[in-house]
Amino acid sequence: MEHDRLLIIDFGSQVTQLIARRLRELSVYCEIHPFQNVTADFLAEFAPKAVIFSGGPASVIDEGSPRPPEAVFDLGVPILGICYGQQVMMQMLGGRVERGHGTAEFGRAFVTAGDDALGLLDGWFSEGDEQVWMSHGDHVSAIAPGFEVYGTSPNAPYAITADTSRNFYAVQFHPEVHHTPRGAKLYENFVRMAGFSGDWTMGAYREQAIAAIRAQVGDAKVICALSGGVDSSVAAALIHEAIGDQLTCVFVDHGLLRKDEGNEVVGMFRDHMNLSVIHAEEQELFLGELDGVSDPETKRKIIGKLFIDVFQKYADQIDGARFLAQGTLYPDVIESVSFSGGPSVTIKSHHNVGGLPEKMGLKLVEPLRELFKDEVRALGRELGLPANFIGRHPFPGPGLAIRCPGEITRAKLDILREADAVYIDQIRKHGLYDEIWQAFVAILPVRTVGVMGDGRTYDYACALRAVTSVDGMTADYYPFSHEFLGETATRIINEVPGINRVTYDITSKPPGTIEWE
Ligand code: XMP
Repeated sequence: MEHDRLLIIDFGSQVTQLIARRLRELSVYCEIHPFQNVTADFLAEFAPKAVIFSGGPASVIDEGSPRPPEAVFDLGVPILGICYGQQVMMQMLGGRVERGHGTAEFGRAFVTAGDDALGLLDGWFSEGDEQVWMSHGDHVSAIAPGFEVYGTSPNAPYAITADTSRNFYAVQFHPEVHHTPRGAKLYENFVRMAGFSGDWTMGAYREQAIAAIRAQVGDAKVICALSGGVDSSVAAALIHEAIGDQLTCVFVDHGLLRKDEGNEVVGMFRDHMNLSVIHAEEQELFLGELDGVSDPETKRKIIGKLFIDVFQKYADQIDGARFLAQGTLYPDVIESVSFSGGPSVTIKSHHNVGGLPEKMGLKLVEPLRELFKDEVRALGRELGLPANFIGRHPFPGPGLAIRCPGEITRAKLDILREADAVYIDQIRKHGLYDEIWQAFVAILPVRTVGVMGDGRTYDYACALRAVTSVDGMTADYYPFSHEFLGETATRIINEVPGINRVTYDITSKPPGTIEWE
């Protein structure tokens, strides 16, 4: 099934991905491509229904600064230029751009409406001036022939311009960022004027992806490392729907999972969804190798290497496997623009199986490559995965090993699992789970004195961690009430033998990290 497609030409802005996010929220299919790759031939083949020029760090005044091909202006489709994209559009169409000289603007600004109405701005200037986010050194000093002004800011007399006869629109600010609070409205108007039908739905995507998986795989076998996380789970469910028993999943239990986690994940996929899942019970192997190890990096290395060995051992038992499924997402595959050389592809090594495809001679199946995280969740719901499973907090590959600073022992892991289960139960009971990015307990390598009943105790201290975050890159601690913290500490100490002291970690990231190791 073919979708209407919008092309975002990337000139290297930090926030280009947010443009794609805003468009996907409007059920519009779009792709981001670095300007170097966008040639006249590329445009003809891509056949966009509309084009957006992103912002970027370069100056159009400089020799050799990034440009789209001239042919883009002859496509006869609407174009929206943002920040650098606005300037490059003006310059190529006959306007003029000058350096700052006191007119640079960074941060919050307010745009005032011009006299005439413009479809792009329908319903935008609701109560006077609109707050926008500016980030420019250069500015347009003369607009190109055919353009008119529809909005100004104190330092940007051409904040919003348009040539309505050709459907070219240019804005100096960034409508895609959070600090342009009503910026989504501009994208909504733009795609409406461009005639997008909003046909990018998860239902449609599911059909298309299933057909693509069948075409790629044929009657070959596929293996998948199932972690129990959202990405690998949704990938597995989708591939299973496409090719049924040709897919085998391997769930590696390294003994560092949370309470009941192994049985829950395997139970759901094997019994509830009828997937073929190998439950690799390798707790002894992992915990044996980790015995006596306390250095965080060494722990990670041991776990990463063993994971690959174990996965390969089980995968080798599956005759004729030719493909490896991975839950790679769109943010991992977007090509980043490099101004010094050609486009560079940044792909994260994923799911602890980095390097495996080459080693085992397997080809990759990555059916989520076009999706953002929240789209993956929507697809998971569409595929019938339970809501509480899809909304689960992220869990790191090395598992509880990095929540157990110092030496890992089975006894400490057992205590940690129990305390974590009580903590998460408390968070769910208070209806806070979905407000929190990640919550967990870390067991500390220190024992403290306490008194319970009439007796002295000498048990472990633990730390509760709960953070809010958008992407895990930065985070803040969650402001629980004192009542919640008190009640939770009491429950943990009463219900979990081995812990007699509970602390709450109020470090943000940076300077801390989310995990303790
Ligand atoms: P930090 O602790 O670096 O964590 O602030 C940021 C996010 O990444 C997760 N994390 C990991 N995930 N393997 C993973 O798959 C790892 O080695 C790993 N270390 C941290 C962490 O849970 C948080 O969501």
